[in-house]
Parts: sequence; structure tokens; C-alpha cells
Amino acid sequence: MGLSEKKILLIVSGGIAAYKINNLVRDFIKKNAEVQVLMTPNAEHFVSKLTLSTLSKKPIFTDFFTENGTWNSHIELAHWADVILVAPCTANTLAKMVHGICDNLAIATYLSAKCPIFIAPAMDLEMYQHPSTKQNLESAQHFGHQIIPAEHGELASGLFGLGRMAEPETISKTIENFFNSAEHSQKLKGKNVLITAGPTYESIDPVRFIGNHSSGKMGFALAEEAAKLGAKVVLISGPVSLNINSKNIDIQKVTSAKEMFDEVFKHYENSDIAIAAAAVSDYAPKEIAREKIKKNDDNFTLELVKNPDILKAMGEKKTKQFLVGFALETENEEQNAKEKLIRKNLDMIVLNSLRDENAGFGNDTNKVKIFTKNSEKDFPLKSKTEVAKDILGEIVR
Ligand code: C5P
Repeated sequence: MGLSEKKILLIVSGGIAAYKINNLVRDFIKKNAEVQVLMTPNAEHFVSKLTLSTLSKKPIFTDFFTENGTWNSHIELAHWADVILVAPCTANTLAKMVHGICDNLAIATYLSAKCPIFIAPAMDLEMYQHPSTKQNLESAQHFGHQIIPAEHGELASGLFGLGRMAEPETISKTIENFFNSAEHSQKLKGKNVLITAGPTYESIDPVRFIGNHSSGKMGFALAEEAAKLGAKVVLISGPVSLNINSKNIDIQKVTSAKEMFDEVFKHYENSDIAIAAAAVSDYAPKEIAREKIKKNDDNFTLELVKNPDILKAMGEKKTKQFLVGFALETENEEQNAKEKLIRKNLDMIVLNSLRDENAGFGNDTNKVKIFTKNSEKDFPLKSKTEVAKDILGEIVR
């Protein structure tokens, strides 16, 4: 708990409040955090690189390029960090962050980051009050960044008012509280979660296949949300071109139902929770033609054979796993979903109906009803990320 082993990327920009940063770095290090300091070129006028590198026990980065002809990778720095803290954040650096003006290593690193961002602004009285600053702070909040508000007091200009950077103890406590509450919400920590997603493609010949309109968005959202709850996720995906963000997701790409089946059973035994969100093709061509099939006759018949039902096989082999399936029905939806829950030996089934506008295949939103053997719960239309949170919330419960 706390800051122990947490990786903090500290961006120091060029304001007088930078003199307080030495104490902040000291405090972080005392609490066993790893701190990488990155300075804007102007910050060097206010605080010594040598002091900061001694306190943080790491070299300080400022420029893209080093003297020995190598470069500092903003991507590596951004991906290393668990959080980025910009303190002090000047009006100039704030404006560049909000508008993506990427003229130094600090901004390039900020723009490459996927981790939470904290901003501790520090400005003189009028600058902090200016509508431009207010608007930029609002935009930063809108991006999801957390502002550690400036405080009242004497300012470097001799004026008295709002604009002083929050004290190092306040900043340190804010970051510590963030990690404490994040760890508190890690309700799937230590759990292995297996998720299938996307369509499957069943080859007919070297150029054609049988597939479906599944986008994979629901399964990918479930994987991201499970990872946020601390789970170790294996995501087995059919052919879709979606990206994943979390470091805790091991993605395995497959094409056909048969390949998905084989991949699933490499991981199933070790899973605590398995969620089958893939739209697996029920049938595949009996034979895959070696050469492209020519259009000779007016009619063409393709013989199909049944694919393995991956979820049903998971139900049969179930030991400790909490098993969740999806149902997409066009008629007798609730009855079919409940029957499927029993027939496939599931613990939970998520029904999404094609009758609901903006729900189901391809859309960014979904509307679901969740059934267990002795409960049912309706949810309103929401983004697939929010639906993923609801489903995982029910699983955790
Ligand atoms: O029986 P039906 O195909 O409607 O069941 C849908 C559920 O079963 C989904 O969770 C889907 O991922 C899973 N399924 C599967 N293997 C199949 C067909 C469906 O895992 N061959």
C-alpha cells in the first residue's frame, strides 16, 4: 500500500515554486517510490539538476537528444510511469499540454502517456485568474486529469492571493491517497480472467471466408475493465483491429473457431473467471478448397459442418471457474438465454437483444440483461465500457 515501489514521473516546469520540488522528491523517495524527474528547459533556471538527480538517485531528463548521440525515448518514459505529476505546472506548460504543443521532451512524454496525470499549478495572481488559464484547467480536467489546486498565500511577486503551488506534503498525500484507493478497488487482484472476443472466420478457399459482423468491442472493453480491477487477463480474439491499453492483458489472436477452441483450452484450467463474448461461427465449410473456387455454375452449394461449441465445452470441463456466456437472440430472447444458462452449465449469461436500437453488434453502446440461476437484472443503454463495468460488478458480487 502507499507509494512503495510506485513509479512516479515528475515533470518540473519553470516556475519559482520549483524550489519546493527537492522536498517533494525527498518525501517520495522516503516512501519508497521510484521517481524519474523530467525538467522543461526553463525549469533548469529555478532548480539544480544535480540536487534533483542526487535526491531521486536517477539522471534527470530535459532534452530529446543526449551529448553522446543517442535520444531519450518519450514513449519509454511515458510507459514506465504509474502516474505523471506535473509540479509546478506553469501557465505555459499547462497551455502546451492542453493544446498538444509538443516542443520539448516533457510534453512529448505527456502526450505518449496512458497513466493517470496529476497537475499542481503554480502561477502569479493574475495569471491564475486569467480566463485562458481557467479554461485550460477545465480542459485538463475534462481530459480526466486531476488538478491539485493552488493555494492562497504570499506569491513570489510579493502579491498575496491564490496561485501558490500546493505544499509538497499536500501533493504527496494526494498521490498516496490515489494509490491507496486504486488498490482498494482492485477487486480482481490475483484472479486469472479468460475472455473470448470478436468474430471467427471460417475459410472457404484461399480468398473467402464465412464470418459475422462482431466488432470485438464488448470483449475488449471487458478485458480492459477486468485488468483495471487488478486481474491478469488472457484475451483470445478473432480477427478485429482493436488495440489494448493495459499491461495486464495477454492478447492471443486466432482466426477460426477451431483455433479459438485450442487457444481457450491452453488457458482455461488456470482461469478463475471465463467470459465468452466472441461471436463464434456455428458452422464451417467441410472442406477448404486449395485453389480459388471458380464461378462456373449458376448455383453453388457449400457443405458445412458444425464447429465445436467452445462455451459448452468450458461448461463441461468446469471445476473452479465462474463461467459467463453471452446470448444474442432475435426471438424468445429471455427464455432462450435462461435455457442456455442451464444447457451450457453457466454461472451467468448476458443477454443483448438485436431488437434494441444501438445495442449489440458493431455499436459503441449496448443494452443488456444479466441472468444467473436465481436472479435477473436489467441495465439501461450505456457505452460498452460502462456495460463491461456492470458485468464485472455483477461477477464480483
Ligand atoms: O448457443 P449460442 O451460440 O447462441 O451461444 C452464445 C454463447 O456461446 C456466447 O457466449 C458465445 O461466445 C459462445 N459460443 C462459443 N462457441 C460456439 C458458439 C457460441 O463459445 N461455437
